Amino acid sequence: MIYRRAKVERETEQRGMENKGLFISLEGIDGCGKTSVKQGLLQYFSEFPVLSIREPGGTLISEKIREILLNEENREITARTEAFLYAAARSQLVEELILPALLRGKIVLADRYLDSTIAYQGYGRGLDLGFLTTLNQLGTSGLKPRLTLLLDIDPAEAQRRKKKDIPDRLEKEGIEFQSRVREGYLKIAREEPERIKLLDAGKDFKEVLQEAIKYIEDIWPAKSWP
Ligand code: TYD
Repeated sequence: MIYRRAKVERETEQRGMENKGLFISLEGIDGCGKTSVKQGLLQYFSEFPVLSIREPGGTLISEKIREILLNEENREITARTEAFLYAAARSQLVEELILPALLRGKIVLADRYLDSTIAYQGYGRGLDLGFLTTLNQLGTSGLKPRLTLLLDIDPAEAQRRKKKDIPDRLEKEGIEFQSRVREGYLKIAREEPERIKLLDAGKDFKEVLQEAIKYIEDIWPAKSWP
């Protein structure tokens, strides 16, 4: 295990892998329409090898952690414990699936990644942003997406869209929580404008998807395979 850890860190630090594969994440508050955009992008990428994942989850261990995190009976989880659990689920996902896929030159499409921790546990729950940044760094060996598509939407509209679903533990936090998370995302996007692109998710789905594809083509112009 210790050997593997060191190897992952070396590989990430070498960063030769940025030229291989393509790592894209989708972010936004609950009900922003990430899942539909992800389906559209999967079609767009259909000729290429793609690893599609969601957080928390994606591996056996991470799915077990997901069950703890989203189970609405687990009301006593503290904000810090919550942050550690998300980081643990992500760490497993990075080592087991994301890094190996990128090293093989695949496209990795992630439904949430480390910005969710800053937005939800940081701006939503009020945990210290420095602590969370360190946690994210440790849990991912510093691996960041090349492009992050942030689907921005008014929390009231997002709630209307999700009305039919049974809410999980985080969705039960309500509209004020989602508003803080949204503001958090917007701040993060302002801090990293190169990586994070803002999409108006209140628009028609097709328009949102077109815009998402436009941003992908900006960093991957020829749609060519490395
Ligand atoms: P999920 O049902 O997958 O929601 P969505 O379809 O909106 O992605 O549940 C994931 C929940 O976990 C969502 O409410 C956001 C939250 N979350 C965090 O609070 N921190 C994190 O680091 C991650 C990855 C997710």
